[in-house]
Amino acid sequence: MNWSKWIRQIHRWLSIIFTAVVAAIFIALGVGEEPAEWVYFLPLLPLALLTISGLYLFALPYATRWRGARRIGGEA
Ligand code: HEM
Repeated sequence: MNWSKWIRQIHRWLSIIFTAVVAAIFIALGVGEEPAEWVYFLPLLPLALLTISGLYLFALPYATRWRGARRIGGEA
């Protein structure tokens, strides 16, 4: 498995973790449970990693072109 495939998998699973944490906070608020203040900062870690991996994924097709498409397999 190549590098970009790993980053894509990491991005995909981080998105699930991020969504689950945000949903859990909303559910807690919905049932009238006020979470501790630090809980609100929890989604920021997966979001920061999503940003980094997302920007990498964004740059991938351009990087492949810049390299003159020498390396096949940058895609998927
Ligand atoms: C925060 C900045 C983010 C950036 C810059 C970003 C960027 C990207 C890019 C460029 C792709 C690849 C699109 C392609 O196929 O060419 C992608 C895929 C994806 N992103 Fe993000 N993303 C970000 C955040 C998120 C968030 C917050 C979620 C969901 C909670 C998310 C979920 C996904 C999923 C599920 C994919 C498809 C992954 C796959 O192909 O398996 N991303 N993102």
